[in-house]
Amino acid sequence: MDAGDLRRLAGAVRSADGLRAVRYAWRRRCTDARGLPRAGVERARVPGAATGAEPLAGGGVVRFARSSLWVRVAAGGAVFCGWDGAGPEPSYALAGPVPEADERAVLEPDTDGGWRVVSERMLVTVGRHGSVEVRTPGGALLRRELPPRWWEPVVPVPGGGSGSPGPRGAARWLQRAEVAADARFFGLGGRAAGPRLRDGAYRLWNTDPGGAFEPGDDPLYLTMPVQLVVADAGTHLVFHDNSWDGRVVLRQGEEGAGSGHDRPGRCDVRADGGPLRFWVLVGTPARVLHNWALLTGAPALPPSWALGHQHARWGFGGEREVRRVVAGYRERGLPLSAVHLDIDHYRGHRVFTVDRERFPDLPGLAEELRGQGVRLVSIVDPAVKAEPGQPVYDEGLAMGAFVRDGRGRPVRGEVWPGTSVFPDFTDPRVRRWWGGLFAERLAQGFSGFWLDMNEPVSFAGFGDPTLPRSARHVLEGRGGDHREAHNVYGLGMARAAHEGLCRLRPDERPFLFSRSGWVGMQRYGGTWSGDVATGWPGLRASLALVLGLGLCGVPYSGPDIGGFTGSPSPELYLRWFQLGAYLPLFRTHSAISAGRREPWEFGGRVLEHAAAALRERVRLLPYFVTLAHLARRTGAPYARPVWWRSPEDRALRDCEDAFLLGDSLLVAPVLEQGAEQRAVRLPRGRWYDTATRRAYDGPGQVLLDAPLSRVPVLARAGSVVPVAGADGGVELEVWAPAPGRTGGGVLVPDRGDGWEPARAVRFTTRWRDGVVAVEQEGSPEVTYPVRVLGAEEGPGRQ
Ligand code: GLC
Repeated sequence: MDAGDLRRLAGAVRSADGLRAVRYAWRRRCTDARGLPRAGVERARVPGAATGAEPLAGGGVVRFARSSLWVRVAAGGAVFCGWDGAGPEPSYALAGPVPEADERAVLEPDTDGGWRVVSERMLVTVGRHGSVEVRTPGGALLRRELPPRWWEPVVPVPGGGSGSPGPRGAARWLQRAEVAADARFFGLGGRAAGPRLRDGAYRLWNTDPGGAFEPGDDPLYLTMPVQLVVADAGTHLVFHDNSWDGRVVLRQGEEGAGSGHDRPGRCDVRADGGPLRFWVLVGTPARVLHNWALLTGAPALPPSWALGHQHARWGFGGEREVRRVVAGYRERGLPLSAVHLDIDHYRGHRVFTVDRERFPDLPGLAEELRGQGVRLVSIVDPAVKAEPGQPVYDEGLAMGAFVRDGRGRPVRGEVWPGTSVFPDFTDPRVRRWWGGLFAERLAQGFSGFWLDMNEPVSFAGFGDPTLPRSARHVLEGRGGDHREAHNVYGLGMARAAHEGLCRLRPDERPFLFSRSGWVGMQRYGGTWSGDVATGWPGLRASLALVLGLGLCGVPYSGPDIGGFTGSPSPELYLRWFQLGAYLPLFRTHSAISAGRREPWEFGGRVLEHAAAALRERVRLLPYFVTLAHLARRTGAPYARPVWWRSPEDRALRDCEDAFLLGDSLLVAPVLEQGAEQRAVRLPRGRWYDTATRRAYDGPGQVLLDAPLSRVPVLARAGSVVPVAGADGGVELEVWAPAPGRTGGGVLVPDRGDGWEPARAVRFTTRWRDGVVAVEQEGSPEVTYPVRVLGAEEGPGRQ
């Protein structure tokens, strides 16, 4: 027990809930003491010397004295490496069947007794002791994986003796890698300090930090063994496909100023078990993310209303308060597209129920709000109150839906409804059943779903606030325990909801976002920051999370605007609101004990500026809808780090206080108290300050005004931004190309919530005879109204 545990324990025993949480923690410890293999003697192993190799489609298998490595180049360019016979399947991350092998890639002997596989995108060499180097086709080194090391339990031989190694999957392992001295690390899921990952240890174990988190807290709800590494030589993504508890230790390299001796960057990945296998993708950031989406799945397309402003609160109290808030928005002319109901609308916090005293006619309320253009979104927690007579509990019990302990009894934990059991989302039968339960939610009038507490959480007075590690899971029929299933629990819950909603409402795109998840969760929906602590550091963490998740393939997310806890100052609230207005999920939310979050609760000035941010969001809606479609087609996140198109610009790699919104806009939120000006680092090319229309040429840094009324937003010269015109139709905002340059943009017109295919319309822009000309692909003329901006100075010298 550490100091944090002791503090929690002391706090917990003061209440009845707390006492139950302490009892649970104790029970969990005993269950694991009984149910987990005892830590015993381990034997360390390395691959040893290479003994031979055999070619297979797309690469081959290299054999070593004590292991083997399968290298396989897939069509599209991703490379798979699996040790000890591990193949790409089974995998929770992959979207579908493993991509075909690239038949052109062949395993051939290399110098020094090693082997190599040459492919279109990269060169992979396998050293004779098991190192794996990944190079660009030009030969520049991107990553060197050193020979891995395993520690496997030794199974005692009856009657003594030295014993034999246990089953292979039971081994812990370490894979150490080196990257270029200039490389910067990103990713690893949702991390509060970032998006550039500092030197240090990052745990791979989805965790509710309890209460609220600050930038220093790690891990959080959504961890992923995915690193995106950006270096002068190129960008690569590495994914260790293993859901077990693990740790990544990063140490950035150093360039030996003048000495010529660089210290490479280092990255250790450790796992407590499971296969040692990884995928590597190489290319520009856009190409890497595109291939990543091909491998792990295209991001779900949210319905267009989910790109508008949404208001949530834990503790609305009842339908009167919901009506009051919605009326507050309406009376002030503030656009609102959804209201979210938290656990307090359930009867005693029981999932899939309604507290009829607070909400006597939920379907009626939903319809009334819908008439005003406002949807209802429901929170859904996985924990089911263990209470005979409760239909969800009874049904689940009858079909054996709940996670069990080693003796076959449902594991009981402590969550909001009290003592609860947990559906096993690694069981296809359970996913189907749970997905069907959303019929009740739809009948209550809900249009979207907010999946929570699915790390999964059980309140614990001390230790890990989750299920026992020995808890049994179906794992698609393979069987296993919580050590393997924990990190994919939220992913399975999101899948169950998504598939259920697709069955129940086949004509509508489901809307869901989930606090926890894993690699591939973008197939089902998005996520959000979780309980970010109110304060300026929390505001910064909000941006870090969204950018980091986007680089792991999850493009739709956003923070609790204003922070989850306490009461933000009017200035902090406004700055958070202004940031949120440019992020995919634009939602105000707070804890039951926290202060208000409606824009009119912070004084007239804040209201005026928040209203401007809301109007700007509505104006940019066609652009957001386009970005959602592009994310689905290309894997590119809506919000991207500023180095996205210029990864070679080292100064940009370290820039964490601005982001690109699609290809056209650069948003520079104010993240510091009192700031009314801020420095903005520009990528190469010409950029217009959209407020002043003044042009700036990057790369470089400029100082821009950031009055309370707005945050600096710059538009890329030549870009075409689809916006909503005064009549609600789409207009094109065209920013004049730089002299001698051309530009362009895309519009995916889609105001709907269904599956009708939406065709992308492409535009190009150029100076012609002293004016900015816009062309629409496949059309003799542009079929949308055009507004050209930034052309006052003319084309300049061409
Ligand atoms: C968790 C969620 C938060 C929600 C609360 C009550 O803390 O992260 O968003 O309001 O539970 O359901």
